[in-house]
Order: sequence, then C-alpha cells, then structure tokens
Amino acid sequence: MEIQGKKALVFGGTSGIGLAAANQLAAKGAKVVALSRDPSKAGAPGPNVTFKSCDVRDALALEALFAAEGPFDILVSAATGGARAAGPFLDMDMDTYQASFAKLWGYTNVVRYGTRHLAENGAIVLVSGAPARRARDGQIALASVGGAVEAFARTVSKEIKPRRINVVSPGIIATAMFGADDADRADRLANMTKNNLIPRAGTPDEAASAIIFLIENDFVTGTTVDVDGGWLLS
Ligand SMILES: NC(=O)c1ccc[n+]([C@@H]2O[C@H](COP(=O)([O-])OP(=O)(O)OC[C@H]3O[C@@H](n4cnc5c(N)ncnc54)[C@H](OP(=O)(O)O)[C@@H]3O)[C@@H](O)[C@H]2O)c1
Repeated sequence: MEIQGKKALVFGGTSGIGLAAANQLAAKGAKVVALSRDPSKAGAPGPNVTFKSCDVRDALALEALFAAEGPFDILVSAATGGARAAGPFLDMDMDTYQASFAKLWGYTNVVRYGTRHLAENGAIVLVSGAPARRARDGQIALASVGGAVEAFARTVSKEIKPRRINVVSPGIIATAMFGADDADRADRLANMTKNNLIPRAGTPDEAASAIIFLIENDFVTGTTVDVDGGWLLS
C-alpha cells in the first residue's frame, strides 16, 4: 500500500511504539488520528497527526468513533489496554492475571468494530511481544496474552481478506512502559538486554518501522514480524 494520502487510525498512538508509528505514517503522507485514553499526557501532536481520546476496552465508544472517522485505510493498535500481571503463575492472583487480557480485548474490539470501515485494500497491524514465544521467568501473563494476539491475527486474517492483518512482536523497546526516560531506566534496560544477540534496548522507531513495512507490503498477511534484538535466540 502506498501510504501517501491514506487515512490511518493508531490506538495507543500517543506514546512509545504507537506514537512512533503515528509519526512515521504522517511523515509518509498519511492523515493520522492517534488515540488513547488521555492524549493530553503526550503534549502537542506532530504534523498531520490529530490526537483523540478513546478507551479500546469501551466497545460502544469505539463503534461511535469508527462511524465518525470511517472510511479509513490503516488501523494500528499498540494500546496496552491496562496493567499486566507479573510473577510465577502458581502464586498469581487470578483476577490480576485475567485483567492482563485487557490488551487482547482492546485489540479484538478494534478489529471487530473497525474492519467494517476499513478499505478493501486496507491493512491492520497489532503489537504482541517477544514473551509470546519465549517467556522469561515471571512473564506468563505477557506470554499468554501475546500468544493469543498472534493466534487471533493469524486466524482472523482468513475472514477479513482481502484486507490484511499482521503483528509486530517487539523485544525490549525503550518506552514509557519502563518509566520515565532517565538514567535509572537506561541502566535497567541495559541490564535486561545484556544477554541478547543485540545487547541493547530497541527504539520506538525501530519497532514502528516494522509496522510501516507490514502496511506497505501488500503480499504479507496473517503473520508476525519479530523486532527483538535477537531475544528469541538469546
Ligand atoms: N516497550 C516494550 O518493551 C514492549 C515489549 C513487548 C511488547 N510491547 C507492546 O507494545 C505495545 C506498545 O507498548 P509501548 O511500550 O509503546 O507502551 P507505552 O509507551 O506505555 O504506550 C502505550 C499506549 O497505549 C495507550 N493505552 C493504554 N491503555 C489504553 C486503553 N485502554 N485504551 C486506549 N489506549 C490505551 C496509552 O495511552 P493512555 O495511557 O493515554 O491510554 C499509550 O498511548 C503494547 O501492546 C505493549 O504490550 C512493548
């Protein structure tokens, strides 16, 4: 797909990977609406990007938003949805574990209600995470949710054709998910990635460039692209 002149909606588009994707889409000439629960935290949007408020867990709000913004060509969701549980499964509070699936419910809401307003040659990109296929200790919730996201996209790709859907699976990317951008965060991310094949955290732009690839390449659907510094092999 040629991005120039297209309309894109990016959920979770006010921070981190989603914000980088929104800005890259806008730089390529798309008209971008970037959404989150509270875009005011993000400051002013860049050129060709409009910030709007929407909670991906709220199906009614999403339906109204899609009706107002449609038709569009590109749908991206990088919205984390809510808090994710960490720690060993056998000690885990099950309400907290189940609440981790807010990310999946947000993504599936976006696909369920957004696809009907998406152009026939349109593209959807979701974001899973490296623990989906190689979880480290304490990451069972991340693994469960990420695996579900990837299976969902693979399976629903048949139903939504000729529209396309793909997933980007990041490793550790330096975003607000790990707190404010300061020396402490840099030290923690360096420690978390020191045994990876590429021993550093990725940047939001590195993850977002895979989102752009999946939008632009019309021959790719139902798959997952890893942008993880070699996490899966480390
Ligand atoms: N960073 C990493 O290392 C990493 C690794 C693997 C996977 N991922 C995945 O990559 C995606 C993006 O993560 P990130 O690191 O870029 O996170 P981030 O910087 O914290 O950004 C998350 C975005 O999601 C929005 N959001 C959260 N809950 C929402 C909701 N219920 N409705 C609408 N918007 C919501 C946030 O804005 P509001 O708070 O204003 O709603 C924000 O714009 C996530 O799915 C994450 O799980 C990240």
